[in-house]
Amino acid sequence: MLRLSPHLDGVRCFACGLAHDPRTLLGVCTACGMPLRVDYDLAAIRLHRGALGGRTPSLWRYREVLPLVEGDEVTLTEGCTPLVPVARNVWVKDEARNPTGSFKARGMAVAVSMAKHLGARALAAPSAGNAAGALAAYGARAALPVTVAMPEDTPRVFFEECRHYGATVQAVPGTISDAGRFLREHGPRDAFDVSTLREPYRIEGKKTMAYELVEQMAGEVPDVVLYPTGGGTGLIGMWKAFHEMAALGWIPAGAMPRFVAVQAAGCAPVVRAFERGEERTAPWVDPETRAYGLRVPAPLGGFLCLRALRESRGTAVAVDEGELGRAAAALAASSGIDVCPEGGAAWAALERFRAGGQVRDSDRVVVFNTGTGLKYR
Ligand SMILES: Cc1ncc(COP(=O)(O)O)c(C=O)c1O
Repeated sequence: MLRLSPHLDGVRCFACGLAHDPRTLLGVCTACGMPLRVDYDLAAIRLHRGALGGRTPSLWRYREVLPLVEGDEVTLTEGCTPLVPVARNVWVKDEARNPTGSFKARGMAVAVSMAKHLGARALAAPSAGNAAGALAAYGARAALPVTVAMPEDTPRVFFEECRHYGATVQAVPGTISDAGRFLREHGPRDAFDVSTLREPYRIEGKKTMAYELVEQMAGEVPDVVLYPTGGGTGLIGMWKAFHEMAALGWIPAGAMPRFVAVQAAGCAPVVRAFERGEERTAPWVDPETRAYGLRVPAPLGGFLCLRALRESRGTAVAVDEGELGRAAAALAASSGIDVCPEGGAAWAALERFRAGGQVRDSDRVVVFNTGTGLKYR
């Protein structure tokens, strides 16, 4: 039986606003092909930050701003990751502590929960690695068959991880875009597509990172958030969450950190569009980086990332392979945090901004380590 949250106020297109029926399995907007946004009746929700103390230490503590009622979730106890202080006014949000070792667990927990309750019989997605592992695990938890496709040069351990959870795994020449195309053309016909931003609920899981930040910082909003950006779900989700928290009365209206989208120099469509003042990203030709999660040449939500950066008075920056590798190693060695190359990219950007004065010592800064570094060997 389908039991949607009583607070759900509809699902609408981020781009054209067209409403879609949340009682059905939803993909992208049926009119314009752009991502869908989940809306809640925030004015009617009574959710006080201070009243969360006794709740479950997982992302499901923010139940009122999630789409399902209690008891219907497919969960491995994701979220509530630590905010680790690493220097004066600098914290690392350590997403490596999630099930399957990355923040992808958050999105998949909510997306798989919804897909299962809306009648999906099987699930599929292309991935740079971490999303595949998370989907395989949550599919196993939901007792739904999973097919994933990854670029063939993705580290072996991601393939092994998916097989470990019983998924069918395809290695595809090229990038995540090619893997997505492969699944659409050759994937199982009955599988529901949970690709990044091609269904509306992964964002809902990822937005909880921002709720946690504000809860962990006792109601304060950080000045700067550095986030390694590939498909952009985390960035878009957190941007959405800051709007929601303002409407819920958790933070002042308009309060938002300056978001910094950090990309790899070998694949930086968001940075290029931001610097050129464009409203949309253009596909990046020949993307290359060993921060595989950042190798997303044509993000469907690129226009939303750009909106989030401009509205928050943030910026976008690309770091090269040497910088991100050195920064990951330096942060791991100095903090004991299991830093992935993507987290290293975000740390490298902070070092550059501190040296250049764009981030001051008095700014309260959060750097996202989005996953474990151990799978990249
Ligand atoms: C470790 C890691 N960091 C960052 C990203 C980028 O994620 P997003 O889609 O939120 O931009 C990914 C995506 O695969 C990833 O695996």
